[in-house]
Amino acid sequence: MESPEARLRSVCSLLRDCVPWYDWVGFYAMDVTGAELVLGPFCGEPTEHVRIPVGRGICGQAAARGETFLVNDVSLEQNYLSCSARVNSEIVVPVFREGRIVGELDVDSHEKAPFGNEDRAFLEQVAVIAAGLL
Ligand code: SME
Repeated sequence: MESPEARLRSVCSLLRDCVPWYDWVGFYAMDVTGAELVLGPFCGEPTEHVRIPVGRGICGQAAARGETFLVNDVSLEQNYLSCSARVNSEIVVPVFREGRIVGELDVDSHEKAPFGNEDRAFLEQVAVIAAGLL
């Protein structure tokens, strides 16, 4: 039986391999203090943002709001943490367990505004399934 981490890594690779506009896919886990997100399994270029305070960047804002945060053009977002100059858009979906945020699913794209309502609904479903593994 694969570890939860290995299974989450497989989810990331599958998503990135199957959807042409998903260029970086990763999970962040909420740390025990509830104040910081910690990088977990991911697929794509390595990122310097291995710990993100709640409220900072797209990830931190999604955690603070407790809802999906979709940014069609990251160059227009002031509170943004860049991982790569090639990234143009991002969607971050909180992962909930028993009503509390335990982490997030983060997807970056090199395209501008590629994420539609189908991506949002799909990734929110993936986050529900992943909740038990995070
Ligand atoms: N861009 C994110 C940081 C994480 S990377 O995309 C992997 C943000 O602004 O929170």
